[in-house]
Amino acid sequence: MVNYFIMVVIINLNMAIDKTLYIPNFTNGMTARKNPDLVLAGGKGVNVARALKSFMDDYLLMGFCSGYSGRFIMSLIKKEGLKSKIVYQNDYESRTCVSVIDKNGVSTDLNEEGAYISRSSQNKFFDAFKKTIEKADLVSISGRTPYNIKGEFYRKLISEVKKNNKKIFVDLTDESLKTCLEAGVNCVKINAKEFYDFSGMKISEDSIKKIFIKYKKNGLETLIVTNGPEPSLAINDNCFYEVLPPKIDDFVSGVGAGDSFMAGFIYSQINNYNFKKALSTATAFASSDCKTLGAGIISKNDIKKYYDQIRIKEIRIH
Ligand SMILES: Nc1ncnc2c1ncn2[C@@H]1O[C@H](COP(=O)(O)OP(=O)(O)OP(=O)(O)O)[C@@H](O)[C@H]1O
Ligand SMILES: [Mg+2]
Repeated sequence: MVNYFIMVVIINLNMAIDKTLYIPNFTNGMTARKNPDLVLAGGKGVNVARALKSFMDDYLLMGFCSGYSGRFIMSLIKKEGLKSKIVYQNDYESRTCVSVIDKNGVSTDLNEEGAYISRSSQNKFFDAFKKTIEKADLVSISGRTPYNIKGEFYRKLISEVKKNNKKIFVDLTDESLKTCLEAGVNCVKINAKEFYDFSGMKISEDSIKKIFIKYKKNGLETLIVTNGPEPSLAINDNCFYEVLPPKIDDFVSGVGAGDSFMAGFIYSQINNYNFKKALSTATAFASSDCKTLGAGIISKNDIKKYYDQIRIKEIRIH
């Protein structure tokens, strides 16, 4: 029974054991022998929840965990004190994702595909989600879709959110992204590669506008495309924005920086920040994430420091 007041529901369908190894001289084909530097519950939504946790209490992480590894993920989530409502299934196994970070912050990722999600687990999720959505203001969905979950699942989920007049933000790729855009999500945050894979276009003012206009009629209000150290591009009804991220001294790893960006953007919505302040806050969350090995691990001091260094160009759309 969930009895606290929930403002944000963070959905992470394909939860993972995330292992991070720092191997300064990592090269292709080498044999490396060491234990992980970090073992955390993972998946993009978990990272979003981790980043949000130090800033607000009113969130709930939801998703699926499976088998022995699923039990382990649930114990990691509990250990971190992340508020969650997980649908557990005995069959199948949740995935393990391994990130190797070298001395330049370059990351090599080996991500398992993850578990099959049974029909009865999907139904259990919906029952829990329906009860939760009434108490929420905003829903976010981040991360890879389990391989047997189809568009119908997202359509049902989004229609439930819309029925309740709540907002929905997504960080998804490929078919799942298309389904969600067509179903009328309010905000999309992806990276430049994901934008290219989706649209076949490199990021520019024109290409972002094109995709935004295409899905505006379905309900899209904001499209943000981040691009590592390069400027992020964002668009809403009135303006196009170019956000120049600060240079990071002692850059460690950008893995999860996009998830911290999403957390900062969600936090800004909950606090009714204007769009420019929301972009700066989200970017400051992301910059802070770049200073740590783990995804979604950020500090208030770094956020404060980077916030003042962010430059935003605003171009009014006629
Ligand atoms: N090398 C870097 N230097 C400075 N800032 C960075 C760097 N990499 C990432 N960032 C910051 O993090 C934000 C998000 O980065 P990025 O575009 O890599 O997200 P992403 O690919 O979605 O990440 P992930 O999916 O691993 O969470 C950028 O807009 C920027 O503010
Ligand atoms: Mg991302």
